Amino acid sequence: KHIIHLSAECYPVAKVGGLGDVLGSLPKYLQRAGLRTWVVMPWYNKPFVQQREFEQVYTGSFQQGSRPLEVQVYKEKEDVLGFGLYLIKIPGLLDREEPYGYTDESEQFMAFQHAFLHWITETGITPDVVHCHDHHTGLIPFLMYHCERFADLRHVPTVGTVHNGQYQGWMDWNKAILLPPFDTWKWGLLDWSGVINPLGALIKCCSVFTTVSEGYLDELMTQANGLERLFAMERAKGVGIVNGIDTTIWDPAGDAMLPYHYRIANVQSGKRKNKEFLSKAYGLDPEKPLLAFIGRFAGEKGADLLPEIIENLLDDAAVYLTIMVLGSGNPQVQASIAYLAERYPGKLGAYIGYQEELSHRIYAAADFLLMPSRVEPCGLNQLYSMRYGTIPVVRSTGGLKDTVSDIDVQNGYGITFLDANTADAAEAIRRALSLYADNQRMQQLRKHIMKLDFSWDKSAAKYMEIYQNITNKL
Ligand code: ADP
Ligand code: GLC
Repeated sequence: KHIIHLSAECYPVAKVGGLGDVLGSLPKYLQRAGLRTWVVMPWYNKPFVQQREFEQVYTGSFQQGSRPLEVQVYKEKEDVLGFGLYLIKIPGLLDREEPYGYTDESEQFMAFQHAFLHWITETGITPDVVHCHDHHTGLIPFLMYHCERFADLRHVPTVGTVHNGQYQGWMDWNKAILLPPFDTWKWGLLDWSGVINPLGALIKCCSVFTTVSEGYLDELMTQANGLERLFAMERAKGVGIVNGIDTTIWDPAGDAMLPYHYRIANVQSGKRKNKEFLSKAYGLDPEKPLLAFIGRFAGEKGADLLPEIIENLLDDAAVYLTIMVLGSGNPQVQASIAYLAERYPGKLGAYIGYQEELSHRIYAAADFLLMPSRVEPCGLNQLYSMRYGTIPVVRSTGGLKDTVSDIDVQNGYGITFLDANTADAAEAIRRALSLYADNQRMQQLRKHIMKLDFSWDKSAAKYMEIYQNITNKL
């Protein structure tokens, strides 16, 4: 079977968050399991793209409204990623430094989706399944099924995966003229509350939709940034599949980004050396327990709570703790964290920005990882942290609820709290500190979480089952 994934991100080509990680790993597992798997994404001006060899496999043009667009499609020559990687380049729209953050994002992703369909129809590529990820690729099923021009693709089933329902790609109806001509009787499939809603169109038009955990699928029925009713209506074709992790990249025994490697047998000394290394760089005391936060400074992640949580803990002289923060996003949060790092030298280390290598080093060095998320469709940080023997302290929501159970409440292996607020988070961290004081229990838990299986094996099999079902139906 031939499966084509479409996404705005794919690690190591371009990664902003977990979407990139998933697209860099799930396709690899699918390909290994015998499916012919491609990832098609926009071309970016990034080191991976500059350094690898690409072959131009298509060149052509189409109109976006009245604007003519030149398309080039490139294939990575050696399949180094373990699946076919194709990049679509359009001068002026798909030749950028970053996936997001441009004022013409609607035109950018409309062009990506249109170009993909244009290319595969012109060259006669007919995959068995087209798999779209998030709103950036959400218009594809609609366009496949309701544009005369792409009629050859009408019989191809589609899967839509919701990694993040907060962002839906809304655009005003006056942009409809920028889409390839479609059956105007079907306009209602694009619409939600008077605007074009690509995520909504994806859910309405795809053969099956998935969410990145089971818990998140349930949550979307009542909290989906306006799409609740749609998710509830389409529930019957929804499946929750928790993300896996790439256990070859995220492996404390072989991770090329770590100064010291370790395994379950020497986790205590291995983590200690990594902690000393990191603590030295950030002027922290390695004798104290280390709590870390890694992530986008966004409301969903509860990042705005961090400054208060930090003050609450570090102002208390009785609290024996150091904290390390890595992230960027909301400028106010960035400024507060930078200010607090100056106010609490030796206790708080911070790096404002994105740094892949540092993230690995923190997962390895920390004793605890804090995730006070308001919304967390799956969350990969807690999975990485467990694989590195770092105990997660998480707000129980979405994927966090599905993957972390509480040591006291459920006889589990992490620390959970109910509400995304400072008091609950600080209380959970204090529980973490009393666990730390019990070294024997702490070491047992570390070994336990490192053994948990969060690889893709089980979840990739569930996607394969979906592909099997939808291709057999036709
Ligand atoms: P989301 O996709 O919502 O941001 P996930 O938990 O699924 O959340 O994935 C986040 C990914 O991005 C993880 O691989 C995490 O390590 C990484 N990450 C987030 N912020 C940073 C940062 N500032 N520097 C390096 N890696 C980061
Ligand atoms: C999104 C979600 C995150 C999830 C990731 C990968 O960015 O916010 O929870 O892990 O997608 O599916």
